[in-house]
Amino acid sequence: KCNMFDCVPSLCAHPRSRELIQKALLENDFMKHLEASQILTIMDCMYPTTLAQGCCVIQEGDDGSTVYVLEEGSVEVTKGEQKLCTIEPGKVFGELAILYNCTRTATVTALTDIKLWAIDRQGFQTIMMRTGLLKHSNY
Ligand code: CMP
Repeated sequence: KCNMFDCVPSLCAHPRSRELIQKALLENDFMKHLEASQILTIMDCMYPTTLAQGCCVIQEGDDGSTVYVLEEGSVEVTKGEQKLCTIEPGKVFGELAILYNCTRTATVTALTDIKLWAIDRQGFQTIMMRTGLLKHSNY
């Protein structure tokens, strides 16, 4: 888990998982401009979790506090009655509520048993803030 300035390094020790998470972050429209050091720290702060087929990972309208990377299985994204898409392994989801400080924009349901990597809002925002502060102190 991620405390303020005290991440437990390499919980996601397996190189294959680290590669998947890194690729997912770099492919995400909102995260691909992060610095390499931020990506590495996010990877170090992520923790693994699993959910069974049919579970609701994210409920539209809820307050969101976690960003996910899907490692195994697939999830479906729906808004109201409308199906938006299916997400496959190697993709980030749940980033919008954290980045925009809004409620969850859609519901995400596990279509199969799934394995996820997760990072909480506090850890995520601390990484953003810390890098911002370091940058600021360089000027
Ligand atoms: P968030 O709003 O935090 O929680 C629901 C997530 O579903 C959202 O972040 C995105 O990651 C994802 N999502 C929402 N709308 C779409 C869409 N149109 N296509 C793909 N993913 C989406």
